[in-house]
Amino acid sequence: MAYIVDGKKISAEIKEELKEKVTELNKQGKEGVLAVIQVGDDPASSVYVRNKKRACEYIGIKSLSYELPQETTQEELTALIGQLNEKDEVKGILVQLPLPSHIDEDEIITSIAPSKDVDGFHPENVGALLIGQPGYVSCTPAGIIQLLKRSDISIEGKHCVVVGRSNIVGKPMAVLMLRENATVTITHSRTKNLQEICKQADILIVAIGKREFIDSSYVKEGAVVIDVGIHRDENNKLSGDVDFASVEPICSAITPVPGGVGPMTIAMLLHNCVEAMI
Ligand code: GUN
Repeated sequence: MAYIVDGKKISAEIKEELKEKVTELNKQGKEGVLAVIQVGDDPASSVYVRNKKRACEYIGIKSLSYELPQETTQEELTALIGQLNEKDEVKGILVQLPLPSHIDEDEIITSIAPSKDVDGFHPENVGALLIGQPGYVSCTPAGIIQLLKRSDISIEGKHCVVVGRSNIVGKPMAVLMLRENATVTITHSRTKNLQEICKQADILIVAIGKREFIDSSYVKEGAVVIDVGIHRDENNKLSGDVDFASVEPICSAITPVPGGVGPMTIAMLLHNCVEAMI
């Protein structure tokens, strides 16, 4: 029987800590405003944006909403970000991804002032992470570090295998685990012998975006398994990149979907927003 890592509970604890911090900062006259930009009306993005705004308000950070039409041009979006960069009261800027295909996402991310990039996606923040300097860290991988630490799962010296190499999760995840003194292997869709490599992991972090791809044949007995995936089936049932029923009996700890990594992403966004207020 594996220990079920409770992301819902841990994220709630973090939110309460941050709420107290915001109250203290408000007493010092420091206010937080997060600008949230969504282009188009993708339903999944709308849910994420709504949850992010709600969580901000809960801890006492105001949010400004910019809901732009699908046809918004690169120039219009860049101009809005430019204005928000200049506004002192706006401490954080979040552009919900994905953007429509006619917009160059990298260019948009780079146009956000690094000091307001609470998503941690700007090249300057990514570079700072790589060389161990202060900066905003991508929320999902930062949340996974919190899940492990707050569940008393030690990282140092462990072999961590990361499955997936996205800029948002896989790459920063590998760097963060390295910073915690893990021995890190990054794998991806072209990796040969993926199963064999995953089976060597003490901590297996899966972010490949394929529903229930990792079954027990990829997992060493007693490993810790972190599932970043989220997939909704035709009956609205959520599942991850890991086949929970197959893996849970052989691992020592595992994150469920829902209620594992998901809630941590928002908690760490709030953490970054509070940092931005200081
Ligand atoms: N789309 C999916 N995940 C994220 C995220 O963490 N931040 C933003 N801005 N967009 C996303």
